[in-house]
Amino acid sequence: MEKILEIKSLVKNFGDHQVLRDISFQVEKGEVICIIGSSGSGKSTLLRCINFLEQPTSGEILYHGKNAETEWKRTVYHSKVGMVFQSFNLFGNMNALENCVLGQMQVLKINRPDAEKKALHYLEKVGMAAYRGARPAQLSGGQKQRVAIARAFMKNAPIVILDEATSALDNKSEAVVQQAIDNLMKDRTVLVIAHRLSTVKNADKIFVINNGQIVEQGNHDELIALNGEYAALYNMQFKTKHQHEG
Ligand SMILES: Nc1ncnc2c1ncn2[C@@H]1O[C@H](COP(=O)(O)OP(=O)(O)OP(=O)(O)O)[C@@H](O)[C@H]1O
Ligand SMILES: [Mg+2]
Repeated sequence: MEKILEIKSLVKNFGDHQVLRDISFQVEKGEVICIIGSSGSGKSTLLRCINFLEQPTSGEILYHGKNAETEWKRTVYHSKVGMVFQSFNLFGNMNALENCVLGQMQVLKINRPDAEKKALHYLEKVGMAAYRGARPAQLSGGQKQRVAIARAFMKNAPIVILDEATSALDNKSEAVVQQAIDNLMKDRTVLVIAHRLSTVKNADKIFVINNGQIVEQGNHDELIALNGEYAALYNMQFKTKHQHEG
């Protein structure tokens, strides 16, 4: 196993409010890490700090053993971490294809025909190729999410961070989005704030965040056996909401 990411004593304060309290963990290459916890517990802030969309107050982030801020160039580190936001962050004035093409051309300097070809390939994978000409306003929540997923995975970054939308999708859309993610997650290291039972159950590790701290970690079976917060969340949130998934 190869350590790809290491988070050391991460702290994030917003003014007087300590949102992340001394978070440390390691991620092996190829692992899927699932982060769960109640609303406001600090999940999005943690992932935003890992991608330096928020500046950590203190602590260290190591990528392949080297400090992401001081030993890696920010641009290089950024190219290694792809992110799908809770709010998707698609450009409203551009259609699905353009949203995917933009970063490829501007950041990766890929020419338009190649970028479009690649974008279509990824839109196809998430079942959105037919909507290539549609703008975000013309798409449903699940469709926007799938475009954002295609765009993030197009970066070919070894690490992908997914902040799944909490907005309830209908069962059919959920299954499609899930399949798209499962497909693309192969061969990547993934940190996902998950709201879908299948993602959580299949994760290599689940971190339960409470009040800015990791309070439980392990896989589904281990955490069920622990009969703590995960078990309670699982019984309350997932079991009742996703009974159809078994
Ligand atoms: N930019 C900010 N400025 C001030 N406070 C913030 C900021 N971003 C987040 N917070 C606060 O940090 C806490 C954690 O927020 P965060 O978005 O990380 O929660 P979360 O676990 O992702 O919740 P949810 O499940 O609802 O998405 C909240 O109390 C929130 O109000
Ligand atoms: Mg969040």
